[in-house]
Amino acid sequence: MQETSQRRRKMRELAATEVARLWEDNADAWARQARLGVDVFRDLLNTPAFLALLPPIAGLRGLDVGCGEGANTRHLAGLGAKMSAVDIAPTFVRYAQASEACDPLGIDYAIGDAMQLPFDDGAFEFVTAFMSLMDMPDPGRALREIRRVLRPGGFVQFSILHPCFVPPRRRVLRNRKGKARAIEIGDYFESTEGRVDCWWFSTLTGKERHEVAPFRTPIFHRTLSQWFDLLAAAGLVVEKLGEPTAGTAPHANHPVIEDTRVAPMSLHVRARRAGD
Ligand SMILES: C[S@@+](CC[C@H](N)C(=O)[O-])C[C@H]1O[C@@H](n2cnc3c(N)ncnc32)[C@H](O)[C@@H]1O
Repeated sequence: MQETSQRRRKMRELAATEVARLWEDNADAWARQARLGVDVFRDLLNTPAFLALLPPIAGLRGLDVGCGEGANTRHLAGLGAKMSAVDIAPTFVRYAQASEACDPLGIDYAIGDAMQLPFDDGAFEFVTAFMSLMDMPDPGRALREIRRVLRPGGFVQFSILHPCFVPPRRRVLRNRKGKARAIEIGDYFESTEGRVDCWWFSTLTGKERHEVAPFRTPIFHRTLSQWFDLLAAAGLVVEKLGEPTAGTAPHANHPVIEDTRVAPMSLHVRARRAGD
């Protein structure tokens, strides 16, 4: 019994090292492309919806987990929060620090693993994680760490790929005009445990895809009820959910946004420390 749990822990540690390596390999191209505005799903839909769901954060101490090149951390600092941020990939942290050096917002960036946060207990009034927790081999441990660094009464708000509508297998079914009419999904109950997906930002043209290598990202799918159980086990109580969808403005050039009229791509969760 003990041997089995030790083996599982070793496997998770191995997966964590591999995950860190994959993200470091993606980081330079990802940061460059994100800064050219290629990640329209993030910039035009997901982040605005995330910020709209946030309670007021001006004057609060916050931590952004899995900050990438720091664009979203900078939005939080722009709302008046005193931000720290961590990412497992050193290259992402370097990009974020370079922005901070050019245009200081008082953000403290560090290389760090969400599953072993380098901060004291109760150091923050809120924690955010934009599209990062579903990339981790042990999201339950990350959530426990997040709760540990939250002050009593503090909250975490995170976004993940929607477990119901972006499970391990997904295909958008389109009409003749290319408009999404349904989403075909499969393997919802399959735990992918680090399956590596290769993909480009959807706005890249075929020519551009010949010029840049695809991202290789590890996927650790969890079902909706598993996420709920992980939050409860970490001592976090859900208080608000969000499912961003394209608003009234047409986004004809961006099917990745238009498709969310049929079903959301991401799930936003706000949860508070239980028992305070
Ligand atoms: C999809 S990207 C999102 C980046 C950023 N939050 C954004 O919205 O632009 C996922 C990020 O999570 C980071 N990440 C993955 N596993 C991590 C871990 N265990 N600890 C900290 N960061 C991690 C990756 O390096 C990457 O920057």
